[in-house]
Amino acid sequence: MGVPTMPLAWQACRNAFFVFESRRKRMAQISRISLELNASDCPKTNPCNPRHPFPPRFKDKSRFSQFLPKTHHLPWPTNTATLPLPKFRIQPLSHSIIHSFNIVLETLLIPATTDRKEIYDTLLPQIEALVADEPDVTANLANVAAALKQAFGFFWVGFYLTKGNQLVLGPFQGPVACTRIDFDKGVCGHCYRTQQTVLVPDVEQFPGHIACSSASKSEIVVPVFKNGAVFGVLDVDSDRLDDFNEADKIGLERIIRILEKQL
Ligand code: SME
Repeated sequence: MGVPTMPLAWQACRNAFFVFESRRKRMAQISRISLELNASDCPKTNPCNPRHPFPPRFKDKSRFSQFLPKTHHLPWPTNTATLPLPKFRIQPLSHSIIHSFNIVLETLLIPATTDRKEIYDTLLPQIEALVADEPDVTANLANVAAALKQAFGFFWVGFYLTKGNQLVLGPFQGPVACTRIDFDKGVCGHCYRTQQTVLVPDVEQFPGHIACSSASKSEIVVPVFKNGAVFGVLDVDSDRLDDFNEADKIGLERIIRILEKQL
């Protein structure tokens, strides 16, 4: 996400501040920083204490990551912030050179509201940023499931993916779940066949509902498409009756449209 304008001597930047920029179109949060150190200029022994070599984990080129003491906000549209460089446990590397560093988005910005639409609106650009540069499908499905779980605290959020003539459990967040669903079974199978979002206010009233957990009371399932065919479904379960509404349908479908661009 950012690179220093020039290689910086570790000693010089230990207490320095970095100015960096976010490409996000909304406010972002930064809570972890990663440094990639190129040790080509680093002496083999610790000059501060020659009897101790550098930590064994330290290789010629290493990446270290550390949480910042507090989360920093990058307010949109300025998108810039000045951050103190955290003290890394690998100190002292007094002569090594930092050639690049990455800023890692570790936490989601979730507004303190119960208004689902507002939460989806805030979440959407963050999910877009999460998946935009990542071509790996599993990684993106996993992060989308985690982001939804974190933002809304749903009982279960996950994907079932089309494999052969069944839907097979993919990345999810929540208790263990059924691994395979036939196309003619359950809410997920219904979603697969109709290629439409299915909203179930009371799972006990849905003929053929598959109860992976007795705690699940209501459910929404959204189809995920790839090249015009159903690639899989996003299944979200709540432990409350009638927990999903039109805002969830619209919000989840918008998230799936973003995800589909990476499939
Ligand atoms: N209830 C789903 C099965 C999946 S679990 O809820 C995770 C269904 O009826 O298809």
